[in-house]
Amino acid sequence: MQEKLQQLKNEALPAIISVKTAEELESLENKYLGRKNGELTELMKGLKDFNPEEKKNFGQILNEIKKELEESINKKREELNNAGFAEQITKEKIDLSQPCLPKKESGHIHPSSIVQKQLEDLFTSMGFMVLDSSELESDYYNFEAINIPPTHPARESQDTFYIKNHENWLMRTHTSANQVRAMEKYGAPLRMITPGRCFRNESTDARHEHTFYQMEGVVIDKNINFGHMKAVLETVAKNLFGPETKVRLRPKFYPFVEPGVNGEVTCLLCGGKGCSVCKHTGWMEIFGAGMIHPNVLNYGGLDPKVYSGFAFGFGLTRLVMLKYGIDDVRLLQSGDLRFVKQF
Ligand code: PHE
Repeated sequence: MQEKLQQLKNEALPAIISVKTAEELESLENKYLGRKNGELTELMKGLKDFNPEEKKNFGQILNEIKKELEESINKKREELNNAGFAEQITKEKIDLSQPCLPKKESGHIHPSSIVQKQLEDLFTSMGFMVLDSSELESDYYNFEAINIPPTHPARESQDTFYIKNHENWLMRTHTSANQVRAMEKYGAPLRMITPGRCFRNESTDARHEHTFYQMEGVVIDKNINFGHMKAVLETVAKNLFGPETKVRLRPKFYPFVEPGVNGEVTCLLCGGKGCSVCKHTGWMEIFGAGMIHPNVLNYGGLDPKVYSGFAFGFGLTRLVMLKYGIDDVRLLQSGDLRFVKQF
């Protein structure tokens, strides 16, 4: 037995040392120490046939050899790993003379999105939630539920794109279409804005576009009055155009509010003195607003005897044009990189 052990050791150790690859090492490990049929393992299994004295003796020698083999296998494994790493590093040499890759063009934010985000930040800081809504809308929410029945003349100023064979569906003409949807979904009290794309069947020119952006706002609670509305709109105007900005509200008819107003701010360019941009009035129209009509509250499932509220709609596209001095609305959707890259 002792001889066998000595022989195994003399054979195994040099074999391990001269191994060149991880695979070879593994098969040697299996050959000697493998759970099944490993030479050393088999010898250990055979110990049971010896008398107690021999068992103890050989057992000890066996364990020592096993330890020695394991140690030298581990050492070898580490050596092979390090060698592999070194080889990899020499292969991965960096060639500093190589020309660098062409710079990838990175996109940037469209001016309409910049202004939208600025307003969203302001309104959320005042406790408004921001709601999304679909651009394809039903006749009901876009017109009927906000007090514009089928025969109402107000429809004439908001012609839009209808869906063939689905006359009750249209591209929404204003973000007001989301007023009643929001009331149905969230009830009262409600404080929300809803920005988004709107559509009208317009012949386009420098001031008109068939596709544009608006931002609607709705506040509903008990005892909401006209003063609350004015305060919110003044805060927004000053935030957008500076603390000196004045707001002027003049009566205007919108079927879904009563009373309704047309909101103007002092002209950005001339500060109110009068110039060509404000058509020499000193004022620029940027929103429509008013106290929500009782019929609309009813459509939204809210009792107008309990709740009151106001709504406003900013012409987001118009704000963008004013902010950046853009004189042709069509540029905003032209996809012309020479234009978009300036922001
Ligand atoms: N929806 C109106 C428009 O598109 C604007 C508006 C919104 C007016 C809310 C009053 C209240 O012209």
